[in-house]
Order: sequence, then structure tokens, then C-alpha cells
Amino acid sequence: MAASLTSLGIEENGNRSRLIDKYGRAITDLRVSVTDRCNYKCVYCRTGNDGAQYSELPIADYLRIARIFVELGIEKVRLTGGEPLLRRGLPDLIGELAKLRTAVDGEPLDLALTTNGHLLADMAQSLKDAGLTRVTVSMDAVDPDTFARITRVPGSFHKVREGIRAAQRAGLGPVKVNCVLLRGFNEDQIVPFAKFARDEGVIVRFIEFMPLEEDRLWTPASVIPVHELIARLSTFRSVVRLEANALSETAQRYTFDDGIGEIGIIAPVSQAFCGHCSRIRLTSDGKIRTCLFSQFDHDLYGRMVRGADDEEMAAFIRATVEKKEARHHIGEPDFLKPSRSMVHIGG
Ligand code: 5AD
Repeated sequence: MAASLTSLGIEENGNRSRLIDKYGRAITDLRVSVTDRCNYKCVYCRTGNDGAQYSELPIADYLRIARIFVELGIEKVRLTGGEPLLRRGLPDLIGELAKLRTAVDGEPLDLALTTNGHLLADMAQSLKDAGLTRVTVSMDAVDPDTFARITRVPGSFHKVREGIRAAQRAGLGPVKVNCVLLRGFNEDQIVPFAKFARDEGVIVRFIEFMPLEEDRLWTPASVIPVHELIARLSTFRSVVRLEANALSETAQRYTFDDGIGEIGIIAPVSQAFCGHCSRIRLTSDGKIRTCLFSQFDHDLYGRMVRGADDEEMAAFIRATVEKKEARHHIGEPDFLKPSRSMVHIGG
């Protein structure tokens, strides 16, 4: 039994099967984009033109797909977008998702959400009540004018800061704040963000800019590499490295010499972490992506619409996991931009 399961890309783990790719990586982390609409037009992501087209599945369909993934060993689901808080029915989806893993192995599902925070102040408590575990807020400046220049939405900074505080009050912490660093836009925000992490009690994570945007802004020079980031942080206070929480953790963790404040550094470009990747993504239109930088989508929803049963969908998921790429090729001569941009893939 175990041998045939392994050849299908599953490993027996007690009562539970796990998805294992051909490089031996266990796929335990599913990201589900619940809409590709967004109320921000961040310069490193969107063109600034409003796309009239968007694609979303019925809530019940995301739920069925997530259930099949959880039965295949997914332990953590992160809801993304677009901006997931724009999605009608989100608390209901969270309420149902929160029960999924318990039915499989009695453990609670780790259920997180990445949001731009604009609508979070009003929604944090109901998301928590529905069963959400924690939130990550994307926020790329702490200076209100710089923030508005990046999001292209006036007044956005105060909305997001209130959203972060509401999430903390609702018990959705520790709140992580993701800041994508982009040369010429926000490198002067590094030290102010360090202070923000300490003052607000959030974990600020600096992310290297990746070539996933609708506009073609990305160049190697637009990336602020880790050594430059550390040098800038050190002008504020000496930084101290913290131990990793888990092998598949994408962030290197730091604090300061007085132990106050946590900073994460996510360096997918200068220090790629593909070897420990545990992630798989579902786009808002129900396609599987095995890597942010894939050239292909795998149309799970197409099979569902044509009447596939749970077994057939599970088999398709396993076959797709088999195709997961070894690594990305950012910055190499053979790099090809992915076939879709971040807002359509889901963060
Ligand atoms: N490069 C790096 N990070 C990005 N994100 C969105 N687009 C990019 C990009 N081109 C970030 C968002 C969000 C996370 C899911 O990914 O800010 O926090």
C-alpha cells in the first residue's frame, strides 16, 4: 500500500497522506486567491489602469477544492487576492474552511489571510469570530505621502494603520506587515519601519521586489539586496539574528540589540529558498500554479465543471504536484517572466 501511494506522489503519515513532489518536498501550504479585484494600484504590482474583467468562483467551489487539498495533507491555507476583503461571503468561507482539517485528522487548520488592510478595521473582529488564525498586512511605507504614492489611493496609510490595530485587538496577531522594497520608492522607509515594528508591536518583513508586476519595472538594480538592507537597519541599531521557526520559513528573522521589535527579511531574489518550498497556489479562477514563476496554469476548475468527482480531482492535484519546478530563474539569462502577474496569481 505505502509503495503504491508513494508512486502517486503521496506518503502515508499515520492516517494521513501527504503530497510530496519529485524533489522530495512536502507540499503542506495552499494559497487560495478568492478574487483578482483590488482596491489599490500599487506601483510594483498593477498598471494603474482599472481592468474591467475579473474572475471569481462561487464560495462553495473554493471550499470543495480546499477540502480535497486538505484531505491530501495541506496543513495551512492562506487566503489572498487581489484583495480578499473585497470578496463577498469571505467570513462564511473562513467559517467552513476552519472546520476542514479537524474532520481529517483532528488538528486545527492554520488559516491565514494576506490583505492590504484598507477594509480591515471594520472586518477584523468578524474574521476572527469566523475562525481566522492570523493576518499579514501588505504595507510599503509608513510615511503617508509615500504610501499614497505607492498605492495610488489618497488617505490609505491611516486606514491601514487602523486596520492593523483592529487586527491586534481582535486577537489576529502577531500581525505581520509585508513591505516590498523598491529602489526609488521606499528605501528611505527602512529605518522608519524598524521604529514602526517596535512602536506598534508588529513583525515587519521586508521583501525583495520580484518580476511579477503588470508594468515592466523590474530590473536587477530595482531590487534592494539583503546586505544593503542590513546596513541601513544597522544605522538605527545593531541587528541580532534570531533562529528560524521552521525549515520552510521564508523569512530570516532579526531583532535589535535591546531585543525590542522583530524584523523579517524575505530575499527570494538574492537568496532563493526554493529548496524548502512547501507551497502551491490556486488562482481566483481555479487554476493550480506550482510556482509564482510558472509558465503554465493547471486547470483544476475546468475538470470540476466537466463533472470530475473528488477522486479525479485529487488525482489531478497529485499529477500537478509532480510537475512542480525545482526553482525559479530570476536574474539568470534564461529567465522568462511568468505567464501571469501577481494580482492574477495571488500572493
Ligand atoms: N515582488 C515582491 N513581493 C510582491 N508582493 C506583491 N507583488 C510583489 C512583487 N512584485 C507582495 C505583496 C504581499 C505579498 C503576498 O507579496 O506586497 O504582501
